[in-house]
Amino acid sequence: MTGKKVHILAIESSCDETSAAVIRDGKVLSNLIATQKVHERYGGVVPELASRAHMQNIVPVVDVALKEADVNKHDIHAVAFTQAPGLIGSLLVGACFAKAYAQALDVPLIAVHHMQAHVLAHFIDEPRPKFPFLCLTVSGGHTQVVLCRDYLDMEVLGETVDDAAGEAFDKVAKMLELPYPGGPMVDKLAQDGDPLRFKFPVSDMDGYDFSFSGIKTAVLYFLQAEKKKDADFVTNNMKDICASVQYTIIKMLMNKLRKAAAELDIKHIGIAGGVSANSGLRKTLQEEGEKCGWNVYIPAFQYCTDNAAMIGITGYYKYLKGEFTDLGVSPTARASWT
Ligand code: KG4
Ligand code: ZN
Repeated sequence: MTGKKVHILAIESSCDETSAAVIRDGKVLSNLIATQKVHERYGGVVPELASRAHMQNIVPVVDVALKEADVNKHDIHAVAFTQAPGLIGSLLVGACFAKAYAQALDVPLIAVHHMQAHVLAHFIDEPRPKFPFLCLTVSGGHTQVVLCRDYLDMEVLGETVDDAAGEAFDKVAKMLELPYPGGPMVDKLAQDGDPLRFKFPVSDMDGYDFSFSGIKTAVLYFLQAEKKKDADFVTNNMKDICASVQYTIIKMLMNKLRKAAAELDIKHIGIAGGVSANSGLRKTLQEEGEKCGWNVYIPAFQYCTDNAAMIGITGYYKYLKGEFTDLGVSPTARASWT
């Protein structure tokens, strides 16, 4: 293997982004993401439409990823793909494509867990975290505190018992009649709002677990009551509502991260997943890091939300350990990974 360059082709199709990336020796050469616009008019991802869009997108996205990387398909050494979790139809498209491609090229297939890949997105660019590393992974479907002992040695210390943090952002955005996807819109509006104007409950679960269903219900009842008094309440207070909700969600996330960092005495701390693109969370983590003497790690924006580069980097570490997958492997909508 000395002197030989390892190229991994990676496919991500767990939700509504069709993505392909080419990785050379752990470096991203290309990372193409086709965002499916078809869901906008429905205010959320429609699973059947997502599967169909993946089928249309996957071949051109892979072609462009190879071209941009300037890598011939015959120079690919392994194909990595998202095996779980996600929408089953969407996962199936990526899995079938990856299996067929690997078989046609006669190279190994590598199954990747999407949440592990979100954590390993930290190892795409410098500065890379040192182990042990604590990662708060916050996405549309998951909220987890993950202890990383090594690249492929991780433990989920706590997670949400109901909604994910991204789901809370998206559902509140829907109540406020903001366009889909809601999280980035709430973030944008919150930047000019007063985070302390409205108070929402901060849940405190056992250990390192989270709960976000309470804030969702609290915001719903709050808006119903205020709208009875003033029909234009939402329009007139939009920025303050967004800032107050975002402040509360960030507070719940940071409480558990701080607790885990203190109890485990870990100083290398990061955030990952779609919600780690949130400007308020990024700023709060930086500030907390300065206060607590942490080394803080925040992925570049393009590696926070779903992307194939993170699948590729995970695939690369699995390739180095010879962790290959049988062609008979099936994707699964829900699966634990530690
Ligand atoms: O990781 P991701 O792209 O997909 C999943 O694996 O779920 O995360 C998507 C989630 C959505 O809930 C989206 O609203 C949220 O990440 N999100 C944000 C921001 N950007 C994406 N939430 C708050 N602020 C943002 N800037
Ligand atoms: Zn994700």
